[in-house]
Order: sequence, then C-alpha cells, then structure tokens
Amino acid sequence: MLTAEQNDELTQVEAGTPMGEVLRRYWYPVAFTRELEEFPVKRVELLGEFFALWKSPSGRMGIVPEACPHRKASLAYGVVEADGIRCPYHGWVFDADGKCTEQPAERDNTQFQDRVKAQAGKVEEMGGLIWAYVGPHSEEKPAPELPRFDTYVMDGYRDIGWVDLPCNYVQIMENAVDPHHVEFLHGRYFEFVGKHEGFTAPASFGKEHVKIGFTAFEWGIIKRRVLKGASEENDDWKVGHPLVFPYNMRVGGGGIHQMQIRVPINRTTTRFILYTVHSPDGYEHVDQPQIPDYEVPLFDKHGRHVTNYVEGQDMMAWCTQGPITDRTTEHLGRSDIGVAMLRKMFREQIDLVAKGEDPLGTIREKHERIDLPCEKDKFHAGGAQFALDFCDMGSTRFSPVLDTIKKIHISAADKIASEKAAAQE
Ligand code: FES
Ligand SMILES: [Fe+2]
Repeated sequence: MLTAEQNDELTQVEAGTPMGEVLRRYWYPVAFTRELEEFPVKRVELLGEFFALWKSPSGRMGIVPEACPHRKASLAYGVVEADGIRCPYHGWVFDADGKCTEQPAERDNTQFQDRVKAQAGKVEEMGGLIWAYVGPHSEEKPAPELPRFDTYVMDGYRDIGWVDLPCNYVQIMENAVDPHHVEFLHGRYFEFVGKHEGFTAPASFGKEHVKIGFTAFEWGIIKRRVLKGASEENDDWKVGHPLVFPYNMRVGGGGIHQMQIRVPINRTTTRFILYTVHSPDGYEHVDQPQIPDYEVPLFDKHGRHVTNYVEGQDMMAWCTQGPITDRTTEHLGRSDIGVAMLRKMFREQIDLVAKGEDPLGTIREKHERIDLPCEKDKFHAGGAQFALDFCDMGSTRFSPVLDTIKKIHISAADKIASEKAAAQE
C-alpha cells in the first residue's frame, strides 16, 4: 500500500516531476520507420509533451518540441527541408540540433537567430522503429547510447503489434513482475472464456506456480518461476526472463523473441508495442523490405474488452485497474514481492537522478548488441507447439503476416526433425 503522495510520485511522467526526470534519461520508440517514409513529419506525444519528429530527404532526423519558439505554431505541420524543419507560419528553420538557421522576415536582424534555440532531442532508427531521446544532454554529458537489445538487431522474421491503452504505464510494469497472474488470467480465466466461446485454451498457461523468484540485474529484474511438474533445472527458473527497466519486458520461447514495450505517452495513456521476432532453430532468412505493423483490438463493438487472446486478457487487467490505479487501498501479499521490488527500484532511480547520476540501464559505450536472458523452453511446453499456441492464442493472430509466421515455424521444425532423422540413420 502506498500513500496518495507516493502513488503520485510513482506514476508521474511530466517534466519537473521526480519520475518524469528519471524517464527522460531513456530512449523511446516514437514512430515506425514506415511512417516517416510515407510522410516526413509526425506529431509525437511522449511523457506528457508534444514534439515534431522529422526526417529529411537525405535521412537526417530530428525531434523538437512541437511549439515553434517564435510564436508557438505547430512545427508538426512544418516543411521538411534538407537540413531541418521550417515552421509553416513564418518560415523559421530549426536544424537537428535545434539551432535556428533561418528567419526569413528578420533579414536585417542578423544576430537574432543566434539567440533562439529549440530544445532538440536525439533520434535514431533501429529495427523498423524510430527512437527518440528527449532528456537532458550537453557537451560535457551527452545523451546516453540507444541500447541495441537483441530483439531489434537479431536475424529473424518480424512484425509489430501495437495499441494505445487508457492507463498509466506503472501498472503495466507491475504486471511484468507478477508471475502468478499467468496461471489465473491466462489459465483459469482463458479456459472459462474458451468454454463459453467454444475453443480450447492452451493447457500450458494454467500450470500451477510452486515457486517464484526475482533477481535484480544490470537491466532491471529477472523473473523466475517453477511450475508444477518442473524443477529449478527448467529454463523458467534457471534462465527466467527480464523486466527491462523502466518500460519493457523481454519474453520468448519456442524460437520467438519478443520485447513488450510500454511507452508512457502521458500519465494515463501508454502505447503498448509487441515487437516480435520469429527465429526458430532451422530458420532460413526471409527478406523483409518493410516490417509490418498492426493495431491489436482492445474493445469489441459493445465496448467490452476482447479477452479471448493472451494480451487482450493482460490489457483488460491493466485497464480495469483504472487510469491510475489506487494504491492507497490495495492489499499486497507475499506473491506481490516482485511488485514491491519494482517500486523500490523506481524510488532508487529517483534518488540517483536527483544526485545527477545515471539511472539503471544507462549505457554510454558504443556497442553492437545487448543479449538479454530469456528462457527458450517456456512453460516446458515444447518449442514448436509453444510457438503455434503463441501465434493462435496471442496478439499475433491479428498480424497481417500470420500465415507466413506459422509456415516459418512449421518448416523450421520439419527441417530440424529431418536433420535429426538423417543423423540417426
Ligand atoms: S510561429 Fe513559427 S515562425 Fe512564427
Ligand atoms: Fe500476462
């Protein structure tokens, strides 16, 4: 249970608030690469602020606060030029560093443009997503590096599901350290929905948890579980999978690698992104000139949550906790130990940032790839079967490339099976 003040502090995202300042030390995906190819400027909301994100014909990208420093017209309606964005109102131009490089109506006032600057952030492209950093940076202390987590850079066949959720991101992150919910929300409840809608829910999700554990590590918290019939030798315990602080969870199994991204758009809106890579043993490279993205359904036509798939169940739980869940009247039990650990981690980062230090997961070295721990044999369900359940029973069922994905898993499994058979001959 938290006090109202503690709950406020934990859930704020705005500039100048303790958590808002922590959150501004990280990079966030703010667009699909596809979007800026289709139209080179996009209005972006992130951490309760609006920005104009642009990409020039030469590939230069920039992000600046939406309101033009002149008289506040929207730069998200700007003209994208070779070296910057030109305000649609009086034509001032800002480059990727936020420097004002032109003021067409101030030709005789030459020093004026040097006194005007937009607070530019940093922008990079990785894995079909455009990433932005809008926090503090200077020559002495530049922006941190964009972490190149394995999912974004590994070989495999990708798709990206997304949906905007009407709730604060912290309750979603609390779910990432809550192993027990799987057995009920994706087990018992799934079975109940299946019984009434006429389908069979996947059996492996309902297995009883006999033990859970959490380990803090350099990127966040590794979550572990022992399911009934398994032991500490199984991947679910030995490897586990991580909450990647402060807004991701890495999951996978059966040749699937996924980052569940929860971007705090504002205090009560979170963009949930399911970034998935299919790369089973036996996978043969398939070219993807563009990574498909698709919206996953949150509500049906009656305004009820769609709960006949895994992430739909999660989203129902997160959203029905309320826009900002009331932690002053909750009852945390022993099974909520991960939730308590995460809240403590958030508070520790507030203190670090207040002291001018880098929070958890800041990376300043150039690097190629960061591998995150993640179980391969999830729920000890068996590779290909887990993958097919994942496709049919999760958000991937809405993917425009569902058939291709299933074919990839089936033919990879066939290839491995025939290689094994050949080796035995
Ligand atoms: S408001 Fe942007 S140039 Fe005037
Ligand atoms: Fe879940």
